[in-house]
Amino acid sequence: MTTIDWSNLGFSYIKTPWRFLATWKDGEWSQGELTEDNYLHIHEGSTALHYGQQCFEGLKAYRRKDGGVNLFRPDENSKRLNHSAYRLRMPQVPEEMFLAAVKQVVKANQEFVPPYGSGATLYLRPLLIGVGENIGVSPAPEYIFTVFCMPVGPYFKGGLAPTNFIVSDYDRAAPNGTGAAKVGGNYAASLLPGFEAHERAFSDCIYLDPETHTKIEEVGSANFFGITGDDQFITPKSPSILPSITKYSLLYLAEHALGLTAIEGDVFVDELDHFVEAGACGTAAVISPIGGIQNGDDFHVFFSETEVGPKTKALYDQLTGIQFGDIDAPEGWIFDVALD
Ligand code: PLP
Ligand code: COI
Repeated sequence: MTTIDWSNLGFSYIKTPWRFLATWKDGEWSQGELTEDNYLHIHEGSTALHYGQQCFEGLKAYRRKDGGVNLFRPDENSKRLNHSAYRLRMPQVPEEMFLAAVKQVVKANQEFVPPYGSGATLYLRPLLIGVGENIGVSPAPEYIFTVFCMPVGPYFKGGLAPTNFIVSDYDRAAPNGTGAAKVGGNYAASLLPGFEAHERAFSDCIYLDPETHTKIEEVGSANFFGITGDDQFITPKSPSILPSITKYSLLYLAEHALGLTAIEGDVFVDELDHFVEAGACGTAAVISPIGGIQNGDDFHVFFSETEVGPKTKALYDQLTGIQFGDIDAPEGWIFDVALD
């Protein structure tokens, strides 16, 4: 039995017993297997190390009230991993292999899926990296696909309490770059801006569109949404942001469960007063309400710096109710994990 204090988890690495690992060589994937070794043994010339040829995913397993375990839209993570892999000239991971790997890892580490009601979840990290002997800038001769997991709590310290964000002068992605792919380089680019934001006591940065610096793109680790006083749920549309599975789920729920008008469109940073509520959304972030945004000398407060707004809370309840199996999900959103 584990002795984890489920209700006080943050978002940190915890070693769980089992991870899945498969290798790609000569055009084929190995069958893959569960292993206890949490170190990868790779060639010094691996493209993942030199040229950032790697991509990853993030998804969660949710303990239901009846003790079973749900995955939330893992097929979408599989599709996005393959989109990222295509962008970096890496082999596709068949959806069947991806889903089987995720399920095997959850089942093998099932005592680490936090109890229903603790608020915590099991975070799964699928990772695809280029490995093998290489030195020139070209795709790797071999690849590793691995999936590991750990129990996690809130990504942003406040959880459902609002925190503040700051508009960054740095760009996270280029107009026709890799912003829409979940590749390590985007996150490497966000480390210094993130550090500077944290130094000033902000939760994270908000990046603007790299072409005109007038429109909100996203947070370094989540998408952005705002809710207007006349019931519009608006989230940025841009080719250089990560297409968040949570965001697309919220667009659907805002319209179908809350009766809001759901819009993917421009969010101009000098028009923040259109919004009465705002938040960051993603797998790790879930829905993290934004109290205020610092933009140059201007600090704009939305609903409140201390209280979550009513529509953001209603969306959070819908989303997490579906994920934990308390609310009926739209067709195809929930995958049950057979535990025995
Ligand atoms: N944007 C970035 C940069 C992210 O890292 C993430 C996390 O995966 C998201 C958005 C949210 O995406 P999703 O809802 O699919 O987790
Ligand atoms: C996720 O939400 O799964 C992410 O990948 C965000 C972050 C931990 C980088």
